Amino acid sequence: MISKRFSAAAETYDRHARPQLALAQSVISMLPEMYPEQILELGAGTGQLTRLLTDRFPEVLIDAVDLAEKMVMHSRARFHRFPHISWIVGDAQTWRGTDPYPLIVSSAALHWTADLKATFENIYANLEPGGIFALGMMLKGTLRELHDLRREIAPAKAPQNTLPTFEETKACLQAAGFKLERRKHSEEEILYDNASAFLKAIHEQGVTGGKVSAGNAPLTRTELGQLVADYQENYSVDGGVFATYETATFLLTKA
Ligand SMILES: C[S@@+](CC[C@H](N)C(=O)[O-])C[C@H]1O[C@@H](n2cnc3c(N)ncnc32)[C@H](O)[C@@H]1O
Repeated sequence: MISKRFSAAAETYDRHARPQLALAQSVISMLPEMYPEQILELGAGTGQLTRLLTDRFPEVLIDAVDLAEKMVMHSRARFHRFPHISWIVGDAQTWRGTDPYPLIVSSAALHWTADLKATFENIYANLEPGGIFALGMMLKGTLRELHDLRREIAPAKAPQNTLPTFEETKACLQAAGFKLERRKHSEEEILYDNASAFLKAIHEQGVTGGKVSAGNAPLTRTELGQLVADYQENYSVDGGVFATYETATFLLTKA
């Protein structure tokens, strides 16, 4: 289900991925001075974080894993000039490398996993002792304006699942065995031209079909029209409408 939605979004995702790019930059900026022999990236998608990794660590071997086959095919073709990147279809919750890695990174992807604690335990197993895990996560407050309006307009179609909170994420990381070295918790309001442009952008990020903003049934055309009109009325600022993104970046080690 999730992999299908992201596969469908592969072509359009990058044009609309500003909050994801900011999170990927935050993950990179948290890394200490190091030059790892190999890197594992989980939920690599269209390669926004991968691109930053190749700038920071030129020529280092990268295993870039993603659940969505079409996303992997798209990125493999797009990065054909980077033979040191291997594009692999796999689930972060279960995928295992042949040998443990000195550095594992992930940005804007693991909030989608079915079981966050099991995913972090699997990452811990993929990391070598003394290794580093740098993680960027989208958190529960993300798109809160949209969720509030959806609940008002179609209460029976409210999303079943919610994103994890900062404290839940931190607790799962610590339960998996990680030592927390650094963390950053932030909230940002992103500006879009208008409510229609906002909804189109998040749809093209592959977000609207899933647990961030969709419910158990699609909105009708009338409900959707009302959502656009109410969003425009309630969340307008100078120059457009805003949407909140709540994120966290963690730097973790394995003892
Ligand atoms: C919003 S995109 C982010 C991609 C990229 N890391 C970035 O920063 O732009 C999320 C990606 O996570 C992938 N994904 C979701 N769940 C996953 C899982 N359990 N294992 C691996 N990849 C997953 C999706 O297929 C999608 O490509």
